[in-house]
Amino acid sequence: MKVLIIFATIEGQTGKIVRFLADEIRAAGHEVELVDAADKTVPVSFDGVDKVILAASVHERRHPKPFEVFLAAQQEQLEALETLLISVSLMAAFPDTLDEAQEFVTEMKMRTGFTPGSEALVAGAVRTGSYDYFASQVLRHVVLKGHEYDLGQGDHEFTEWEGLKGTLSEFMGVPVS
Ligand SMILES: Cc1cc2nc3c(=O)[nH]c(=O)nc-3n(C[C@H](O)[C@H](O)[C@H](O)COP(=O)(O)O)c2cc1C
Repeated sequence: MKVLIIFATIEGQTGKIVRFLADEIRAAGHEVELVDAADKTVPVSFDGVDKVILAASVHERRHPKPFEVFLAAQQEQLEALETLLISVSLMAAFPDTLDEAQEFVTEMKMRTGFTPGSEALVAGAVRTGSYDYFASQVLRHVVLKGHEYDLGQGDHEFTEWEGLKGTLSEFMGVPVS
């Protein structure tokens, strides 16, 4: 089986997530190709592709523009294949903000016209070293508002790797590691 992974990452957590998925897919004996949606020099081919994973992070309620442009432009080709959309956000880390995390996906589907075959909301990470003053303020006063986590604690990964393996197995239709 050949799996194409298209991704968009700003601070790197989605990049780490797709590399983890790619390693699992290869370990299960399948072929995988990773494409960064921000890299316009890489041609994307669907030749021989059986399944597509689309993964991107949320910043200020939206997934990165190049990612959305890709979904809108390739809508027909993508909808002819089996697809899994992975939306990485911090609101996916907390039960009381899961609905909001789902809204980011719903809004993206409305903007792009693309509907994935399956979807997963995946918790991202706090990476304090990557933030400027504005980003820290958004995280502290909007994204993490009302939650126990204090940015002063430094970096923290909310991503649940075992859960991600389960999502991947379900999508692949076969067990992975
Ligand atoms: C400036 C900024 C804005 C963000 N806005 C949101 C948001 O609106 N909703 C949310 O759930 N997470 C938000 N996040 C959290 C990111 O989605 C999270 O840190 C994710 O792990 C980033 O993934 P990446 O490293 O692949 O870019 C924001 C993060 C930053 C730095």
